[in-house]
Amino acid sequence: MTQPSLNMAGEPRHLYIRTFGCQMNEYDSLRVRHILAPQGYVLTEDIEAADVIFLNTCSVREKAEQKVHSFLGRLRALKAQHPGLKIIVGGCVAQQLGKQLIGRFDYLDIVVGTRGISSIGELLEEAQEANRRIVHLPEEEEPGRSGLFKPFFDDPLPQFHVAAPVTIMQGCNNFCTYCIVPYVRGRERSRPPAEIIREIHLLTEAGAREILLLGQNVNSYGYGLEEKTSFVELLHRIQTETNVVRIRFTTSHPKDLTDELIRCFADLPSLCKHLHLPVQAGSDRILKRMNRGYTSGVYLDKIHRLRKVCPDIALTSDVMVGFPGETDEDFGQTMLLLHEVQFDGLFSFRYSDRAPAKSVQYPDKIDEKAKARRLAELQAFQARITMDRNMAEVGTLREILVEGPSRASNGQMTGRTPQNRIVNFEGPEDLTGRISRLRIVSAFSHSLKGKLVQEAE
Ligand code: SAH
Ligand code: SF4
Ligand code: F3S
Repeated sequence: MTQPSLNMAGEPRHLYIRTFGCQMNEYDSLRVRHILAPQGYVLTEDIEAADVIFLNTCSVREKAEQKVHSFLGRLRALKAQHPGLKIIVGGCVAQQLGKQLIGRFDYLDIVVGTRGISSIGELLEEAQEANRRIVHLPEEEEPGRSGLFKPFFDDPLPQFHVAAPVTIMQGCNNFCTYCIVPYVRGRERSRPPAEIIREIHLLTEAGAREILLLGQNVNSYGYGLEEKTSFVELLHRIQTETNVVRIRFTTSHPKDLTDELIRCFADLPSLCKHLHLPVQAGSDRILKRMNRGYTSGVYLDKIHRLRKVCPDIALTSDVMVGFPGETDEDFGQTMLLLHEVQFDGLFSFRYSDRAPAKSVQYPDKIDEKAKARRLAELQAFQARITMDRNMAEVGTLREILVEGPSRASNGQMTGRTPQNRIVNFEGPEDLTGRISRLRIVSAFSHSLKGKLVQEAE
């Protein structure tokens, strides 16, 4: 690796990265870190020590965007103390607000859109040398010198070596009526399979054992590719052409979940038995207004098929409450669906207006109190289901991929089951990156505790 260059005080330059939002942003933050490493930047967790701050933002819900604004507000004082500090804002808020952002926060140096990450090195050099403020929002992903993400070999976080994300497609063509993603991430584009396979080779050479394939709608992968490849074909290629131990993917859209893809959970030994399949609502009337393209009956039928093909598959989902026009009865149907499916885990949100998404114009908005009440009821209900399903793991034998020492529980190691449950256990650090067999001994709301049975690979 290139030696870090030194600043005028004879020290390496420090990069502080804060990432909001989804895994696509996590991946882009890794790219930024990789791109800037040869320019001498080492990562710091101390924001006060930073020479460059990269803030990767999310605008999917109002609350997410508020977090970004309050974080940005706090940077004013920091910039006043360190005038040489360069502040870069990337991600979806940057894409959405562009110039507005640099006007509103006069201490920002660079605003870079979701398709401009590859150019971050050049942009930073330009901002430093010409002392210019830059807004860069390219229409298309740029084939910058680091379009291909190479792993950062001496990364200090063991988690990164073991489980690595790979973006396989970007953007979204679905235009769910509440959603801002198609506006901030643009139209759907898939990366060529050969590039994905190459990136996976690089990552496994650097120690990755598990690959998380990322995209807003991975199961429609293939759109616009020269070398015609479906998502199922891509999964088969990864299984046969690389030596990854585990494959995961997220997010899938229920309307594009084919029987062929369902069969992969039985046919591909490396594919983890977990599917995140956002349902959003249980009422067909609301699903229609959301433009989701399926009914609750179709969704339940797919869940049934999944469980038939792969009985121990874990299922997780996203739902939202308070979409415009949602009555108590509609909400009751979401609750009924949660009862019927018994998800292993759930992310739940209150609807918020995200201009220019279409639902902003829907007149029959639900008041915040009703939304809060529905969300609390739903979360309490699901918490019991999640806990019951975690409890059902107690006594079972599970293979976990060990990711390294646990950050939360002192002196323990951590990893995940194929079903994506976090398991903490006592064991030696050199198990990192290995598959270990554990007996599950207790369950909590968000994790399990296990006991090492024997080492197996
Ligand atoms: N591509 C994924 C999800 C993207 S956003 C999919 O198709 O499901 C992640 C989640 O945020 C969504 O599943 C949805 O539940 C939630 N979300 C998106 N827009 C929202 C909005 N305007 N208000 C509240 N929640 C929203
Ligand atoms: Fe948004 Fe719908 Fe696309 Fe998911 S599928 S990113 S919810 S528009
Ligand atoms: Fe947020 Fe953008 Fe992801 S809006 S959820 S960071 S695609």
